Amino acid sequence: MSGLKGRKLVLGVTGGVAAYKAAELVRLLGKAGADVHVVLTEGGARFVTAVTFQALSGNPVWTDLWDPRMDNNMAHIDLSRDADAILIAPATADVMARLAQGRADDLLTTLCLARDCPLLVAPAMNRQMWENPATRRNVATLRDDGIRILGPAAGEQACGEVGEGRMLEPEVLAESLDAFFQPKLLAGKRIVMTAGPTFEAIDPVRGITNSSSGKMAYGLARACAQAGAEVLLVSGPVALPVPLGVARVSVKSALEMRAAVLEALPADIFIGVAAVADYRPANAAEHKIKKSGAELGITLVPNPDILAEVASLPNPPFCVGFAAESRNLDEYAEGKRQAKKLRMVVGNLVQDGLGSDDNQVVLFDADGRHPLPRAPKPEVAQGIVAHLARLLARG
Ligand code: C5P
Repeated sequence: MSGLKGRKLVLGVTGGVAAYKAAELVRLLGKAGADVHVVLTEGGARFVTAVTFQALSGNPVWTDLWDPRMDNNMAHIDLSRDADAILIAPATADVMARLAQGRADDLLTTLCLARDCPLLVAPAMNRQMWENPATRRNVATLRDDGIRILGPAAGEQACGEVGEGRMLEPEVLAESLDAFFQPKLLAGKRIVMTAGPTFEAIDPVRGITNSSSGKMAYGLARACAQAGAEVLLVSGPVALPVPLGVARVSVKSALEMRAAVLEALPADIFIGVAAVADYRPANAAEHKIKKSGAELGITLVPNPDILAEVASLPNPPFCVGFAAESRNLDEYAEGKRQAKKLRMVVGNLVQDGLGSDDNQVVLFDADGRHPLPRAPKPEVAQGIVAHLARLLARG
């Protein structure tokens, strides 16, 4: 969550039952390196006390416009003076109505009116309140005013009803804020990306696959989405959640992956991260193969090279490949770049990254090799995005 490191955030907590989740949000934001200052409204304080937020944020909690702790009585300006953003979570229908009208009748709304930083709002209310035309109008006004609305989610509500109006989960809010602060280097770009292993059936229950976890592709998809791109992951079988703001098409075999990729094109950028099986059984058995004690041979036929095929299309997207090698990285990675007609290859020595949280990669492009510093994988993904954006800007 590098976007949150060192950020000063004002978190407004208003009177909804989801206020209890704001406590967890403060913890997550603090863990990601943000300096969180909580402003609790009178309604918010009915659900969770200031002591909880003070303990979790390590900062004083503010509730009153006339708080004597503010020595110059300028709380409304001082608190948000050097803030990077104000987030209201949960935001009730009432606070949204007051924000839409530009009212300043408590500390939080006064801070919002006097701010010169972005404001993000995470609504939380009963589904009928959310659907009410008055709330719809207020939401539209807030959006027009440049205020970012996060959520709400649909699901079961505290009142027992089911519908739209639940506050987004703290993890999703922290992730959304992190994304909000990332530079939008790939804004307006459509990216199709392959991910994970493929599974090549031998019979209805068995197959050939590999141990690719998909972590690199999913991490890169997240970094691309945070950089403002529209991302579609064509993914083989993995056990990973889809990153926020990313769409996924799930496939099994290389042939299915190829078909899904071709259907997903055109795109500005195509990134082949999947560990596509080089071979598949010539004929998958229709029924489960029975044990006979005799030798069994499986004839394998080569799979299409999806990346090479996309890069050879008449108007190809900007194509990026991956090369994981155990030796001669420069020779093999640059060789792959030229053979498959790629604009860029991300190379790494398998012993440098496999299974670890850190990774060291070298980027190969027409200008040569560009090593990125060894770093946690999410940072490596951001380094790849930055280089990709520079190459794209050059045309
Ligand atoms: O040739 P090699 O498999 O080492 O190349 C790796 C790169 O090519 C990766 O970017 C991978 O996603 C892509 N690839 C592909 N289809 C294949 C084999 C590899 O898209 N059948």
